[in-house]
Amino acid sequence: MAEEDAHRALTDADAALARAFQRAREYVAGRADRAVWASATAQTLRDALGGPLPDGPTAPDTVVNQLAAAAGPGLVTTTGPRYFGFVTGGALPAAMAADWLASAWDQNAALFVMSPAAAVVEEIAGAWLVELLGLPSTASVAFTTGCHMANFTALAAARHELLRRAGWDVEARGLQGAPPLTVIVGDEVHVSVVGALRLVGVGSQTLVRVPADDQGRMRADALTSVLARVDGPTIVCAQAGNVNTGAFDPFDAIADTCARRGAWLHVDGAFGLWAGASDALRHHVRGVARADSWATDAHKWLNVPYDSGLAFTAHPEAHRAAMSMDAAYLVRSVGEPREPMDWTPESSRRARGFAVYATLRSLGRRGVADMIERCCALARRFADRLRADPSIAILNDVVLNQVLVRVADSDQRTAEAIRRVQDERVCWLGGTTWHGVHAMRISVSNWSTTEADVDRSADAILRAALPRG
Ligand SMILES: Cc1ncc(COP(=O)(O)O)c(C=O)c1O
Repeated sequence: MAEEDAHRALTDADAALARAFQRAREYVAGRADRAVWASATAQTLRDALGGPLPDGPTAPDTVVNQLAAAAGPGLVTTTGPRYFGFVTGGALPAAMAADWLASAWDQNAALFVMSPAAAVVEEIAGAWLVELLGLPSTASVAFTTGCHMANFTALAAARHELLRRAGWDVEARGLQGAPPLTVIVGDEVHVSVVGALRLVGVGSQTLVRVPADDQGRMRADALTSVLARVDGPTIVCAQAGNVNTGAFDPFDAIADTCARRGAWLHVDGAFGLWAGASDALRHHVRGVARADSWATDAHKWLNVPYDSGLAFTAHPEAHRAAMSMDAAYLVRSVGEPREPMDWTPESSRRARGFAVYATLRSLGRRGVADMIERCCALARRFADRLRADPSIAILNDVVLNQVLVRVADSDQRTAEAIRRVQDERVCWLGGTTWHGVHAMRISVSNWSTTEADVDRSADAILRAALPRG
């Protein structure tokens, strides 16, 4: 590149970054006041963003500015304090800013030699997470895109270990002819566990389902009976935090029965695992550390920007064997025990450990616990405000951050209320079906939500729940 071009590239980068900073700053500053759901239709967005593929270049600053202007009306303010859809965290300041640096640095977190900083940050943040969540200190850690891929990573480790014990090298020989694996799930298993199992070669129709109780918790007595009927290598998938009710499976009882049978216990704890970070909530996950593997998200309750998931196992050798690959050019660093790509399903990878590290450093142990406890208190406040209206029923025990709301004991009135709340755009929440009836789902997972946000949102829900006319 000629000197003049290099100078222009630097000026371009300066201008684009300054523009992104300005636009991002406006967005962040307006987060609490923006309409929560998008105002643009898909067609408006196509018109604003589309057109023919450009023939030639446009200045980066202009591109960023136009993108921000065109995409703006199509953005959903998921980082704002009144987004209660799905289970969605916001983006804490340190996490967001560190994530910007991760883009500017553009490190490949595959190998130590590609980025010693990314590798060491994963190592440190991983150890902090293990401690914070109360997992065994020797647990292995993987930084993934989300809990779905964390479930995949952990279940691939389970498959490796159980088949190894049965004398089968699954990485070398695949699944054809392998000893059959039995996988047991609760009736309320999250769909991403089923999706992850598909990827490890366990079809959804082959899963053995264990009944759950009225809150969605796997029944340990039923699991014991099921385990007594199956032979051979077995994985049991339990859950910390039901996606609808927030309920926890009884881990101690489940771990007892798995231990008696030598089954691998995996825990999908996309958000519920974070209860382990709080003195007040830890009882929900009693016994969880006895599992063989765990999956969770940082982009949910840790409020790290997308995408960021975490897998842990109590069997580092199995974990590594399931994930690692070798090629002559993939240079391993002598004396460095942890090569990041040995633990994840990907090779080249965004250095998402920086944002996790920055979040843990910025909040500290107490800050994480406060955030989790605050969200739970706000969920209880939501439930109390809503159930004061005689036409509204709260369908779940609000033990965590999830609230299920039903209007006038009617599917139609509940669906109508959800639609009206969404249209008003003060807050956003979605719907679900719980035990055969339609319900509104509220998930309080954002660090910045206040009591005033909950009260304002509860008022919007109460308005939306009024009978028509
Ligand atoms: C219990 C549970 N497990 C797994 C997942 C999947 O997480 P992700 O979409 O981050 O991969 C979710 C998502 O809501 C969840 O609630």
